[in-house]
Amino acid sequence: MATLVVVGTQWGDEGKGKVVHLLSEKADYIIRYQGGNNAGHTVVFNGQEFILHLVPAGILEPGKKCIIGSGVVVDPQALVEEIRFLERKGIKIEDRLFVSDACHIILPYHRWMDQLREIQQGKKRIGTTRKGIGPAYADKVARVGIRMADFLSLRLFKELLERNLKEKAPLLRKACKLSELRREILEKRKKQLPIIKDLVVDSAIMINRIISQGRNVILESAQGTLLDVDYGSYPYVTSSNPVAGGACVGIGIGPTQVDRVLGIVKAYTTRVGEGPFPTELSNSIGKLLQEKGKEFGATTGRPRRCGWFDTSIVRHAVRVNGLRSLALTKLDVLDGIDPLKICVAYRYRGKLIREFPTGREIFKDCKPVYIELKGWKEKTKGIQKFNLLPRNAKRYLSKIESLVQAKVSIVSMGRSREETIIIDRDLIDFNF
Ligand code: IMP
Repeated sequence: MATLVVVGTQWGDEGKGKVVHLLSEKADYIIRYQGGNNAGHTVVFNGQEFILHLVPAGILEPGKKCIIGSGVVVDPQALVEEIRFLERKGIKIEDRLFVSDACHIILPYHRWMDQLREIQQGKKRIGTTRKGIGPAYADKVARVGIRMADFLSLRLFKELLERNLKEKAPLLRKACKLSELRREILEKRKKQLPIIKDLVVDSAIMINRIISQGRNVILESAQGTLLDVDYGSYPYVTSSNPVAGGACVGIGIGPTQVDRVLGIVKAYTTRVGEGPFPTELSNSIGKLLQEKGKEFGATTGRPRRCGWFDTSIVRHAVRVNGLRSLALTKLDVLDGIDPLKICVAYRYRGKLIREFPTGREIFKDCKPVYIELKGWKEKTKGIQKFNLLPRNAKRYLSKIESLVQAKVSIVSMGRSREETIIIDRDLIDFNF
């Protein structure tokens, strides 16, 4: 009988999919509250690998219900394709998947605008997934966006579409023929509507009812804290709020209804896309982390940049998400690496900076200050009890705990559910 928010504490790809899938065993509802199909959650279920971009991974668990919250931007085509993919795999979505009527929708012109902007910016590009996420959120804030409720009405949709095409014409003409774009959008809508319309609900009414019935609810973010538009490494961020505060806005509940927040953290650091990354390793260890950790973007296939664990950014995440508990993933990737380094602060123009700085000019020139820890030779995969972990692995975890001021409650060493150490059973049991 509790509501749990699950957030990423780094630059995304921390392994939220696996942890949410694990937690969903005792959950009734799993809800996405921001982002769009820029996300990629990889989950191994019944020996099969699933990569989900929009639908919460909880859909794989029989009987669980999922909601795409109002804070998510939904590409109707991506949603239809994901539903078809799930149905081909024998996963039923009827009466199990719901989409908020207040979600803003992504249309092909958002994708064009995303691409054109990235190309125009050249070396200063963000390195977006080019899925139209930023332009769709920009329309939302500029009050010209089209919401799911508008998409359902042909008359209103046509009117809003016309307004948008007219406004964006000077830019779009560089990329495509507007008449063809309009036709494509309207034809696709005709096919998408029958699949989507029955999923659309008022998610604020639904979630508040669910919570008052005493159900267990997981609110999951896409991306990570350092990609948050307000608290991330701006401007190299996504256009929404993955931080825990975004969960309330992104589904329609008040902060009093959140019982606990869990942060997912990878045993080292990765990021896709451009932007500063102080602990990035462009040497053989970086390559090793990338290969052993299979660090390739689940959405774009791009190789992820890899580096040492950075406690300054995770401490920032602990702060802005109000974290007390962490689930640490991919510990096994560090097996055999000796010594290990942890970044504890930055050096900037001769000064020591302990905390993640907001200023872009500062962060870009921050050099990591490391401490060294002894590694371990033993394989950690398959270990299911904390006490059986190699002594130096336990030291690595407790060093992280003391530096970021949060407890490691779950340790993951592989993609499957069994490859996990549960330290805080109450978390899994929703006993909080
Ligand atoms: P956008 O969200 O496509 O606009 O991309 C903005 C930034 O967020 C880029 O650096 C992307 O690589 C990054 N990003 C977006 N979604 C994810 C994700 O799910 N994992 C990791 N990085 C992401």
